[in-house]
Amino acid sequence: MSEVIELEQLTKTYESGFFASQDVHALKTLDLSVHHGEIFGYLGPNGSGKTTTIKMLLGLIFPTSGTIKILGREDIDSPDIKQRIGYLPEGAYYPDFLRGDEILRFYGQLYQMGGKALERRIDEVVELVGMGHARRRLMKGYSKGMRQRIGLAQALMSDPDILILDEPTTGLDPLARKEIRDILAGLRDAGKTLLISSHELAEVELISDRVGILYQGVLQTMGTLDELLKDRSTTFEIENLASDKLKALSDAGIDAEDHTDDRVLLKIPASMPVYDAIALCKAHDAQIVSMAPKRETLEELFVRIVGSAEAGTQPETPEPAAAG
Ligand SMILES: Nc1ncnc2c1ncn2[C@@H]1O[C@H](COP(=O)(O)OP(=O)(O)OP(=O)(O)O)[C@@H](O)[C@H]1O
Ligand SMILES: [Mg+2]
Repeated sequence: MSEVIELEQLTKTYESGFFASQDVHALKTLDLSVHHGEIFGYLGPNGSGKTTTIKMLLGLIFPTSGTIKILGREDIDSPDIKQRIGYLPEGAYYPDFLRGDEILRFYGQLYQMGGKALERRIDEVVELVGMGHARRRLMKGYSKGMRQRIGLAQALMSDPDILILDEPTTGLDPLARKEIRDILAGLRDAGKTLLISSHELAEVELISDRVGILYQGVLQTMGTLDELLKDRSTTFEIENLASDKLKALSDAGIDAEDHTDDRVLLKIPASMPVYDAIALCKAHDAQIVSMAPKRETLEELFVRIVGSAEAGTQPETPEPAAAG
């Protein structure tokens, strides 16, 4: 089974109750698939429909139309399917007066776990998320990062095959983010499938195998990072370039992105063939010392895709990979 989650023509409209014109079209005919053993980064600006999608996957709200398949099955409300999904909600809240391990015990019991097996699983997950030392402390004494770790441990209690994490690293310091990232990568490497919604694009870029970008309920693009983050420009390092030559190159469409007394970094735009740029440099006596392709970052892609969608234009991007 390579498709773990398959969404077809998934649509969700929140009805206002009175006027159809006030209905919120949170998702519009969404086709999306998450493959076995990958980390899928589910991205989009505020209000684009990420949490709505996740809630439908979990059976917390129902689609207006379209189909959801999890592990090839449409009966996503069956207990055996639910058992195979771990969920960390956005801004997960746990009661302040409970200890970390008590919270995990409570969730384990919801999964019908008990006795020694439950205690063993609590031991495993607290170690996995690095909370072994603080498991007996009250929630109210936990830092944000510790709460998030307990949230992740809670999602892992049933040893699920699928993890759905709504903004798992929001509000964490860089070290805690890296630690959570390493845990998530380890889970992927152990064969789990992860769907992560996040606004932390640098994090997502480091960890995801594929991403999808949603805007106003419409998937704008989806694919592997290699497919989507192309080399967008090239940098030439030039030695001893006179300022009049720099000006001439700039007039020809090649600008300096940085320069010191004897070195200049020229940014060759993606639209200019590199051979043309080399010829231009040669014509202006600019001696190229080195060349480096510059890959677009996920943040740049996001800004470009969402910016184009906002402007109502077609984004300049590779074709979204077909769902499936
Ligand atoms: N229960 C609801 N009733 C009415 N509208 C809702 C409801 N839940 C969400 N919406 C609307 O649906 C749209 C999508 O919301 P959703 O929470 O899915 O976005 P999101 O991508 O998760 O955003 P964020 O990044 O802010 O978490 C928004 O316009 C939101 O206002
Ligand atoms: Mg959300």
